[in-house]
Amino acid sequence: MSVLSVKDFSINFLRYGRGFKRERLCVISSLEVEINAGEIAAIVGSSGSGKSLLAHAILGILPQNASVTGELFYCGERLTPKRQAELRGSGIALIPQSVSFLDPLMKVGEQVKGEHHGLAEVERVFKRYGLEPEVMNMYPFELSGGMARRVLVAAAVISRARLIIADEPTPGLSETLAREALSHLRELADQGAAVMLITHDLRMALEVSDKIAIFYGGITLETARREDFNHGGAGLRHPYTRALWRAMPQNEFEALSGYQPYAGIVNDSCIFYPRCAMRTSQCRAAIPMRELRGGLVRCTNEESLHDEKIGEKLDEKG
Ligand SMILES: Nc1ncnc2c1ncn2[C@@H]1O[C@H](COP(=O)(O)OP(=O)(O)OP(=O)(O)O)[C@@H](O)[C@H]1O
Ligand code: SF4
Ligand SMILES: [Mg+2]
Repeated sequence: MSVLSVKDFSINFLRYGRGFKRERLCVISSLEVEINAGEIAAIVGSSGSGKSLLAHAILGILPQNASVTGELFYCGERLTPKRQAELRGSGIALIPQSVSFLDPLMKVGEQVKGEHHGLAEVERVFKRYGLEPEVMNMYPFELSGGMARRVLVAAAVISRARLIIADEPTPGLSETLAREALSHLRELADQGAAVMLITHDLRMALEVSDKIAIFYGGITLETARREDFNHGGAGLRHPYTRALWRAMPQNEFEALSGYQPYAGIVNDSCIFYPRCAMRTSQCRAAIPMRELRGGLVRCTNEESLHDEKIGEKLDEKG
């Protein structure tokens, strides 16, 4: 069952540019994501590509100067600002990117309890995540990074939300703690939640996710299933996803030259054009998303969509 459906969704900012002219900055364009109950969908993109804004848009907590187009559906129901306010912290829970989301002046047990739960319930869930009862009486500054992360997971669990958005849940954690954080997300999905895992780390996303949406400069270029990355990434569709896969340490570790464009710079060619070894003159047009082999891809070049050909082309172009 679909828990979250994001359709043709864009986020724009109005800001003052040169000469105090108001200008529109598009940070997320035409995003498409679908997450079912029991599934982890990863949103993979580099820093500044609009991942946290997407999380905030779903929760309805975007800054004032942002405007959105497109549609969001929660369990088949269209999300309006009023509905988002009702669902925040109950139907939709955020595991935030920064532990600074915890109120520094309030004991963590009280914070996690909120208005709707009992302290005994908090204690039970804390125990499940290896947090001793004394932690309930601590203030956020008394927690280690790993403990704070576990408190945030516990808060999401207590909410019993059907949709959990984890925004970069592992940076700063040791390998062991990062794995632990991921296993908590997997557990939540296995219990029936839909989980959106936001990360810049494809390797980590592949460890626990069922599907992966690849973000580039605020645009989704591909949505793929976990299995598409097997067998040398043979099932992948977009030249950028293949390049990302090849750049992973356990693969060829091949860096991609050039820079990802700053979100907001939208022009009418394929956003990957300047770095794409497969580009042709036809790529100088707005590229729509389309279905291909059970996933989505934003690339019109038929040749680039076939694995056996792309390897040869990349070799030719050096
Ligand atoms: N209030 C705002 N007004 C204008 N631009 C903004 C505003 N908030 C964020 N941005 C811009 O939107 C872009 C996306 O920001 P966002 O925080 O979503 O990125 P991110 O993918 O989460 O990055 P990171 O991996 O570093 O967390 C950034 O380039 C940022 O500068
Ligand atoms: S549309 Fe063209 S430039 Fe863009 S990824 Fe496909 S082949 Fe490369
Ligand atoms: Mg972020």
